[in-house]
Amino acid sequence: MVSTAELPGIPMYMLARKNNEEVILHMSEKKGSIYDILKSEHNWVKQTFKEIIGKRDMALFSQALGPLTKHMSGEEALFYPKLQANSGTKVLALKLYEAHNAGKDLVGKMKSIQADDKWLAQVELLSDMLAGHIADEETNVFPAAKKFISEKEAMEIGRAYQNRKA
Ligand SMILES: [Fe+2]
Ligand SMILES: [Fe+2]
Repeated sequence: MVSTAELPGIPMYMLARKNNEEVILHMSEKKGSIYDILKSEHNWVKQTFKEIIGKRDMALFSQALGPLTKHMSGEEALFYPKLQANSGTKVLALKLYEAHNAGKDLVGKMKSIQADDKWLAQVELLSDMLAGHIADEETNVFPAAKKFISEKEAMEIGRAYQNRKA
């Protein structure tokens, strides 16, 4: 198996997909502040859903749910509570939890056993919801968080987030 060290710049999940279809997909292992890490994972989510929809790839969808769930639970454990504890971003934080719950509810309703048109419609809706939520996080949440979370703390949250995923 080719290591990522030999192929800098190629996300680990792409290598995983290429070399062994059964291997669990990994998001990019990018180090940095919590914003850098989440943004890198957001790019992975958007790219992966584009591929799922383009190929009606049910297997890739199933594989993607693990990393996607981990992303959401990491945000809920380490990032959103900071926003909720700050009076200026409390409602914003509650909205983010609601967006995650809406996505999880939709996934829970997906009962198709093959990639039929209903399945595709549900995946497309989920993809739209995720894209809107991601845009909300990157455009509104990150700038608001940067006003009261220091750069040092953002790096610490990033480290804790990566350690949690390990
Ligand atoms: Fe989120
Ligand atoms: Fe996110």
